[in-house]
Amino acid sequence: MTDQLFLKMNDNFQIPVVGLGTWKSEPGEATYQAVLDSIEAGYRHIDTARAYGNEESVGSAVRDSGVNRGDVFVTTKLRWEDEGFESTIEACEKSLNRLNCDYIDLYLIHWPLREKRNHSWKAFIELRERGLCKSIGVSNFTIEHLAEIEAKFGILPAVNQVEFHPYYYQKELLDYCNSKNIIIEAYSPLAHAKRLDEPKLGAISEELGKTPAQVLIRWSIQRGMVVLPKSVNKSRIIENFSVFDFNISDSVMAKLDELDESFVTCWDPHNPPPYAPV
Ligand SMILES: NC(=O)c1ccc[n+]([C@@H]2O[C@H](COP(=O)([O-])OP(=O)(O)OC[C@H]3O[C@@H](n4cnc5c(N)ncnc54)[C@H](OP(=O)(O)O)[C@@H]3O)[C@@H](O)[C@H]2O)c1
Repeated sequence: MTDQLFLKMNDNFQIPVVGLGTWKSEPGEATYQAVLDSIEAGYRHIDTARAYGNEESVGSAVRDSGVNRGDVFVTTKLRWEDEGFESTIEACEKSLNRLNCDYIDLYLIHWPLREKRNHSWKAFIELRERGLCKSIGVSNFTIEHLAEIEAKFGILPAVNQVEFHPYYYQKELLDYCNSKNIIIEAYSPLAHAKRLDEPKLGAISEELGKTPAQVLIRWSIQRGMVVLPKSVNKSRIIENFSVFDFNISDSVMAKLDELDESFVTCWDPHNPPPYAPV
């Protein structure tokens, strides 16, 4: 068994650094089993979203896992279609019903929707005051969006969940978030499995005696982030959590930094889709 690590957020709650991603994990048996397998492997952090359609399966598995609810950190997200003040409050209550739990550890605005995101953030502050969520954060926010929240509310998100891996090393955003005590959560940390056979990563992985996925996850941890690898495959779930027994040297970390090619695998707030302007 490996030891989980935690980071302390700006609201003083702790967050486990490795969480199981569940985007594209089919609702029902696949997600349910993946969450059970992850908890058995030692994960204590599950990342879901209204948009993934699998909150029920996540909630059932957390309940059936035999681990106390208070020891499993559950994140879900407000989908962009539900942004706005009243609709955010309602969406949170519905997510709680689907998860079948009393509170969400971390609730995120999934997308910085223009004209709506500030109403949603106001609702998030109220949801936290009412105890429906312990921590509140955002996802896919740029530096400009974060600065806007700070100027308007003075209450910064605990985390900003964005795409992050060596092939998309958003250093400026990471430095900004570090300076504001906002934790970056690295999503698609395996570059959505699209670079796992890339030769330079392969050479580093051979040198370290670790798999390419483990090297990418460890890189995120050592850059100070929370990291959310997704898998529905038990052996990969275990592999992706076996990242606490080695260290990448500074010189190899620097080589990994150099893999950056602004490779974006998911949606990009710098190039938003027309139906969800930022
Ligand atoms: N906030 C947002 O807008 C946003 C956007 C994207 C993602 N996310 C979150 O971040 C999580 C992770 O991102 P992601 O799902 O895009 O991609 P990812 O974790 O970078 O990669 C997942 C892919 O890699 C495969 N895989 C996992 N472990 C592997 C291993 N050890 N070796 C080889 N292949 C492996 C998975 O397949 P198998 O399942 O078959 O193993 C899957 O195809 C999501 O699930 C979600 O929770 C959030």
